[in-house]
Amino acid sequence: MYASRTARILNSMKIHARTERLLLRDWMLDDVAPYTALVADPDVMRYIGDGKPRSRTYAVNFVQEQIRHQKTRGWMRFVVEEAATEAFVGFCGLDDQRGRLDFGWRYAKLFWGKGYGFEAASAALYVARNEYGLTRITCQSVLDNPGSIRIMQKMGMSEIGTDMASGETVVVYGFPEEWPDGL
Ligand SMILES: CC(C)(COP(=O)(O)OP(=O)(O)OC[C@H]1O[C@@H](n2cnc3c(N)ncnc32)[C@H](O)[C@@H]1OP(=O)(O)O)[C@@H](O)C(=O)NCCC(=O)NCCS
Repeated sequence: MYASRTARILNSMKIHARTERLLLRDWMLDDVAPYTALVADPDVMRYIGDGKPRSRTYAVNFVQEQIRHQKTRGWMRFVVEEAATEAFVGFCGLDDQRGRLDFGWRYAKLFWGKGYGFEAASAALYVARNEYGLTRITCQSVLDNPGSIRIMQKMGMSEIGTDMASGETVVVYGFPEEWPDGL
């Protein structure tokens, strides 16, 4: 569950942002175990894709993909870590999905309801824009995930269109000034 200081040093892990309570950092292979537990939780995965919990193989592939991205382009879904405890909270950050820059987040249930979602999203957005010059960022969610949609709204995003994902309608949010004509 915890990323040891030694592992950090050996991996020369990049810290992308620090907030009052969180770190946004690079991935390392030690993250596979807590990420496997996170995606095995049906409550966490309820609104994602087919809504089913995912396997360790899924988690390994995901972590490897993020490590590839951090080596090649620097940005990805950043690991969110609790600063005080070094606990793996989940991820928050960008991915390129079906030709769109998709901003997303996923946290272990233990950490919900503490304001971490908004705190991490604000920091990740700052890094995406100011360090990597990313624009026309979008977020998408199924219609009945109020926590996720609330984070988008609190960041100043609004609905710019809808799309289909895994056979379900999803609402797509963006910054209106970047999407004057919608999606
Ligand atoms: C959705 C998720 C990211 C929210 O994270 P969080 O850390 O609990 O969110 P925060 O505490 O920062 O809350 C942000 C806002 O959303 C609201 N909120 C959070 N969860 C909510 C819920 N289940 N229902 C209604 N509002 C909710 C909070 O009250 C807060 O709004 P406020 O400041 O106006 O009071 C988290 O529950 C999660 O990881 N869920 C599983 C994965 C997932 O669904 N990812 C998104 C896929 S689109």
